[in-house]
Amino acid sequence: MTLTPDIRLTPSFAPAPISIDLLQSVLEELYAQYRSLQSGKIADYIPELAKMNPDWFSICVTTVDGQQFGVGDREQQFTIQSISKVFVHGLALEDHGRDRVLAKVGVEPTGDAFNAIVLDEQSKRPYNPMVNAGAIATTSLIKGNGATDRLNRMLTMFQRYIGHEPYIDMPTFMSERTTGHRNRAMAHLMLNFGMIDEKIDEALDLYFQQCSLLVDCRDLATMAATLANRGKNPLTGVQAVPACYVRDILSVMYTCGMYNFAGEWAYKVGLPAKSGVSGGIIVVVPDRLGIAVFSPLLDARGNSARGVRVCEELSQRFGLHLFECVMPGSPFGKDAIS
Ligand code: DON
Repeated sequence: MTLTPDIRLTPSFAPAPISIDLLQSVLEELYAQYRSLQSGKIADYIPELAKMNPDWFSICVTTVDGQQFGVGDREQQFTIQSISKVFVHGLALEDHGRDRVLAKVGVEPTGDAFNAIVLDEQSKRPYNPMVNAGAIATTSLIKGNGATDRLNRMLTMFQRYIGHEPYIDMPTFMSERTTGHRNRAMAHLMLNFGMIDEKIDEALDLYFQQCSLLVDCRDLATMAATLANRGKNPLTGVQAVPACYVRDILSVMYTCGMYNFAGEWAYKVGLPAKSGVSGGIIVVVPDRLGIAVFSPLLDARGNSARGVRVCEELSQRFGLHLFECVMPGSPFGKDAIS
């Protein structure tokens, strides 16, 4: 059989352009629709998180050309929690390169809860950088001359993504530090197998500090947009992470970012994403947008209940699934084409 060259080489369709006005009105519609959804529960295993207001809700978008919009409690600050793992993974890659990071942390989804105390039977590596064990191992790789230098390097990295000075929420840090026994157990297990070095307390403190970074929903959208924009912050023009590592970061987000919901998320939403126990979700639409949702009520798998629903709808309505096929003449996504 002879293949016609232009069929192989020329994309037969391109993603439909998104109308910004339509996107803003859909955000408002979804906000009104899901505001009344009260299912889920606030994470209370870290006492400080239990103080969050269950009604907080915001949806924000930053485009790769630097436009920002959103609805709801856009300026409400909260701690970033596990969403930080994405960016610290990027810093570890920057510090050590792909091979060294891979030697210490795998890239396999687990199907287990985020805090499962489990390592790969054979390699003794934690499964991936998005579950707690893998994140602690990744954090332990961050370079620096002592604890303060490591923290400063991490904060400088976060500043490149959010575009303003970063702050750690001390009460949350202390709350995590005094109650994080499971995380300590994981760190000891990994020390036993040589996956992290003996500076366990330093690595754990750094991990609790990264989880306690204060952000608002707009910050998260900009962080996601930076990844969508090949590592360059679209608001400041600063390169937050070398572009060559964005594919590593997004692949791991795609397969592992939503924990034991990752498969269903990939199937339904079809975009790299990461959630955190304070109720944030970031979603990366490569070369187009960063989306963030914040709502602290979590479903059984620890993902924001409203956040999951909003992202499913946004993906569907705008045809954002990475493997979506918007063929000319297809009725699919007709609302999304400006
Ligand atoms: O390790 C912990 O328990 C938290 N600081 C981070 C957990 C988290 O956000 C998990 N994600 N859903």
